[in-house]
Amino acid sequence: MQHVQVGDIQLGVTTHGHRGHPLLLVHGFPLDHSIWQRQIDFFVDHCRVIAPDLRGFGSSDATSGVVTMEQMADDLHALLDALNVTDKVIFCGLSMGGYIGWQFWRKYRERVLAIIMCDTRAIADTPEVADSRRKLAATTLKDGPAAAAKIMLPKMFAQVTWDEQPALVERVRKMMERTSPAGIAAALEGMAVRPDSREILPTIDVPTLVVVGEEDSISTVDEMREIADAIPDAGWVAVPRAGHLAAAENPAVVNEAIAEFITL
Ligand code: MLT
Repeated sequence: MQHVQVGDIQLGVTTHGHRGHPLLLVHGFPLDHSIWQRQIDFFVDHCRVIAPDLRGFGSSDATSGVVTMEQMADDLHALLDALNVTDKVIFCGLSMGGYIGWQFWRKYRERVLAIIMCDTRAIADTPEVADSRRKLAATTLKDGPAAAAKIMLPKMFAQVTWDEQPALVERVRKMMERTSPAGIAAALEGMAVRPDSREILPTIDVPTLVVVGEEDSISTVDEMREIADAIPDAGWVAVPRAGHLAAAENPAVVNEAIAEFITL
């Protein structure tokens, strides 16, 4: 893990491999780069894999207040510059990583070779959802990250993952519980004000793959199908035996789909 100065903060990032296209793996909430471990292991021989911890997560510095999805996209852009990544990247975002991906495409499309959107959403929060995020932000600042883990963990997995992969569930719970309260709160505030990104979808003119766990209860199959239908020529894979964290729950299927998409 190296730490790179990006504007006012240091971001933690792991980079693996030197050959092939840069594959930028952008984690979800409230997680860190290690949610991608099975993709890092698989793609290291084929891509230059770049897996950062976002502002406020993992070993990256946190800032208080509201951290918008646009700010996170700006951070990633600056990180690529700091790492001297001049080739266009394959942007692979999971959930909040996808929210950031829409903003990255809007501002920095010249840096994007292809897009992989895993278990994410394009719509904005309803006022009710935004309100519950703000309440969770306040609770997390008061009671610590376990408060956020208690709300988020139950939504992450397919039933079969709870039954058959307790070590993965435990790993994710620990990941959430070691996240900075300030980082969690700022990202919750940022997600609450994120814009509706549906108008961005038809503008995407690079190869795009949409990946969803068949049992995802946050970004459902139907909602992700709408995203795929709105992006010209998007590829599509529904992952069996997986929920919101399909990339971790069923990495064999997800890795094969990504490998085929980027034609290893
Ligand atoms: C995530 O996995 O990043 C979160 O579920 C996103 C969200 O809470 O909307």
